[in-house]
Amino acid sequence: MQASARDTPSPQPNAVYLPLSRFPTSDSLGSFNGAPFPMSDRMSETSNSLGLRRILVTSALPNANGSIHLGHLLEHIQTDIWVRFQRMRGHECVYICADDTHGAATMLRAEELDTTPEALIDEVRLEHERDFKDFLISHDNYYSTHSEENREFSSLIYERLKDADKIRTREVEQLYDPERTIFLADRFIVGGCPRCKSEGQYGDNCEVCGATYDATDLINPVSKISGAVPELRTSTHFFFALSEFNSFLQSWTRSGTLHDQVANKLAEWLDEGLQDWDISRDAPYFGFEIPGEENKFFYVWLDAPIGYMASFKNYCDQVGLDFDAWWQPDSTCEVHHFIGKDIINFHALFWPAMLKTAGFRTPTRVHAHGFITVDGQKMSKSRGTFINARTYLDHLAPEYLRYYFATKLSDSIDDLDMNLEDFVQRVNSDLVGKVVNIASRCAGFVKKQGGHLAPTCDNPLNTGFVSQANVIAEAYEAGNVGKAIRQIMAMADQANQFIADAAPWQMAKEEGKEADVLSVCTDGINAFRILVIFLKPILPSLAEKSETFLNVPPLSWSDLDHLLVDHKINKFKPLMSRIEQKDVDAMISAGKSPAKEMHVADSPVKDEDVDTIEFDDFAKVDLRVAKIVAAEHVDGADKLLRLTLDLGAGQRQVFAGIKAAYQPEDLAGRLTVMVANLAPRKMRFGVSEGMVLAAGPGGKDLFLLSPDSGAEPGMEVK
Ligand code: MSP
Ligand code: ZN
Repeated sequence: MQASARDTPSPQPNAVYLPLSRFPTSDSLGSFNGAPFPMSDRMSETSNSLGLRRILVTSALPNANGSIHLGHLLEHIQTDIWVRFQRMRGHECVYICADDTHGAATMLRAEELDTTPEALIDEVRLEHERDFKDFLISHDNYYSTHSEENREFSSLIYERLKDADKIRTREVEQLYDPERTIFLADRFIVGGCPRCKSEGQYGDNCEVCGATYDATDLINPVSKISGAVPELRTSTHFFFALSEFNSFLQSWTRSGTLHDQVANKLAEWLDEGLQDWDISRDAPYFGFEIPGEENKFFYVWLDAPIGYMASFKNYCDQVGLDFDAWWQPDSTCEVHHFIGKDIINFHALFWPAMLKTAGFRTPTRVHAHGFITVDGQKMSKSRGTFINARTYLDHLAPEYLRYYFATKLSDSIDDLDMNLEDFVQRVNSDLVGKVVNIASRCAGFVKKQGGHLAPTCDNPLNTGFVSQANVIAEAYEAGNVGKAIRQIMAMADQANQFIADAAPWQMAKEEGKEADVLSVCTDGINAFRILVIFLKPILPSLAEKSETFLNVPPLSWSDLDHLLVDHKINKFKPLMSRIEQKDVDAMISAGKSPAKEMHVADSPVKDEDVDTIEFDDFAKVDLRVAKIVAAEHVDGADKLLRLTLDLGAGQRQVFAGIKAAYQPEDLAGRLTVMVANLAPRKMRFGVSEGMVLAAGPGGKDLFLLSPDSGAEPGMEVK
C-alpha cells in the first residue's frame, strides 16, 4: 500500500466550505528556520503538479541486542507524528526502519544465550515490530540490516569508495582480549578518558566531555567481557578517507540540512580536522565480509545507515516504487533521518561523505533530538524508570505517551524530561478534561434532537480556529510539536468557555430553545472536529474513534476547508479514559522487578542503563554479619518470619518476607548478612529493626546470603 493513500480525503456531502485561501499550500511550508527549500527542485517528474512532496523518512535503527525502551519510543513517536502529518497533508511519505543487527555485541549475546546470532536477531525483530505496532508507529517497512539487499548495497558503496580512491589500509594496533581471544570492540573496553580523565568511559568516545578517540588512548583499559587487561596486537584495517571531506562537510552541514545547534556542534569537530574512519573489523565478527578480503568484516556503523537504503529497496520491491528516483544524486524526493544526539557524527559526517562519493544523493535533513530523562534523571533500572515498551503497554495506553512526548517536542537537541506526575496531570487535563470534554458536553443534546447537526454553523470561534491551521502546520513541519499543542490547547480552552457561557444544559430546560441548543452544540462539535484534525498526527486512535462518532471518513488536513452541518452523527462513546496514578505506580514497580527486565540482552550497556553510586553512598550502609538466634511464624502474616538476630553486641528483631522460601527451624543457628543501620520500622506485628539480605525474584525463589565460615556475628561487611 502506498503511504499517501492512507488518508485520502473524501468529499463531504453536507458541508459548509470555507475560503481556501485560508489554507496553507504545501509550498508555503517548505522551510526550516527560515531557510527555504528550493521549491523549483520539487516540481519535477518526481513531485506532481500539485506541489506534493515525495518524502522518505527513517528513525535510527534500534540495536538488535536489547528491548525497545522509552528512548527509542521518543524517537519513533516523534518521527511518526511528522510522518502522519505529512501524509495528512497529502504528501507521499514512506516511513522505513529496521533492526541494526551486526557487531560484536550481537555475537557475544547470542553466545551467552547459547543460540546463533541469526536466531537471536529474528526473535528480537519480532519483538521490536510488535512493540512499535502497539505504539501505533506507522512504519511502512521494518527490515533488518542482516539482509541480502544490505549486503549488496554495502559492497557496492564500498567498491565505489575504493574506485574513488577513498579507501586506505593501515596497520592498526588494537586491544585484544587474551582470555576471550578476540579483538575488542570499542564498547567492550572501559578506561579513563584521555582528554578529561573521567573514569569508566568506553573505547570510542567520552560521555562526559564528548571527546572521540581510539580505544588504545584510554587510561588503564579493561576488557568488559572478561575483565582481563587487554593486550596490544597489530592487524591491517581499512579506512575511509574522511579527512579529505572537510570542505564538503563544512558546506553540507550549513546547507539547511541541520539545525544550527547541531551544525555548531559539528563545526567544532570540523575545525579540528577530521580523521580517517576505520571501517573494518577482524574476525570473529557478526557482519558482512569485506569483498576480496579474508577475515575482514565491515564495521557495523558502515552497513547500519546503508540499512536505510536496504529497507527502502525491500519496500520498493514489494510495492513497485522506483528506488533510483529517490536515491540518484539529483533526486527531487526528500530523505529525512530522525536520530538521537549521540549518533549525529555518523549521520551528518560519515554518511553524507559516503553517499556523495558513491554517487547517491545526500539526506535532505537530519533531525536530531535530545535524550529522555525520567523525573529529572537518566533512566535507571533500580529506580524502575528504565521503562521498556512492553512494560509500559502492560499498564498504560500508547496514546498517553504519544501525547506527553508530543508536548515536549521541539527542534532542539536539549534533553526532555518525563515527569511522572506531570505526565498523569497533563494527559488527564488536556485530553480528557479539555478535548474529549467538548464532544461529550455537546453530543447528548444533539442525540436528543435526532442526532442531526444544525443546517448552518457560522460561529466565528471555528473560523478563528481554522485560521490557525497555517501556524500549526508550520510548527509540525519544523518539529515544534510542543508549540503546536500549546496553540491547540488554547483553542480547546476557548471552545470549552464558549460552551460554558452558552450553557446548552440551561437552554434545554426552557421551552422553544431547541434550535439554539442544536446550534451551540453544532458549533461545539465542529470545534471538536477541528481540534481532532490538528491532533490526528499525535493521536491516531482517538482520531479514528472520533471519525466514527462524527460519522465521517478518515480526516485529513484538507478537511479543514469545510465545517460539518446538516449531518447525522453517531452515538457518543467515551473516547479516552483518565490515566490512573496506580497504573503508573504499577508500571514503575514492574520496571524494577527483574522478571520484567530486558527480555534480551542489555550488553553492551549504554551509560544510562547503569545507575551508579559514589563510594560514599555505599559506605552509608552498615552491613553486618548476623546470627539467626531464633526464627518463628508471625500470627496473621502470610509472608513474614520473625527473626531474632545476634549482632555480637546485642540482639535485633527483624521481620523478613521469606516465609515461602524457608522453614523457621532451618534458619536457627545460621549466619547471614543484615543492614544494621536501617531506620526501625513499625509494622502491624511489632518493630522491625533492620533487614536481612537475600537474592532472587521472591516467593519461593529467595536465597539468604551467608558469609564463608569463620565470620563472626557483628563483623562489618565491606
Ligand atoms: N543502532 C544504532 C543506530 C543506527 S542508525 C543507522 C543505535 N541504536 S540504539 O538502539 O542504541 O539507539 C537507537 C536510537 O535511539 C538512537 O537514535 C538513539 O539516540 C536513541 N536513543 C537511545 N536511548 C535514548 C534515550 N535515552 N533518549 C532518547 N533517545 C535515545 O544507536
Ligand atoms: Zn572526557
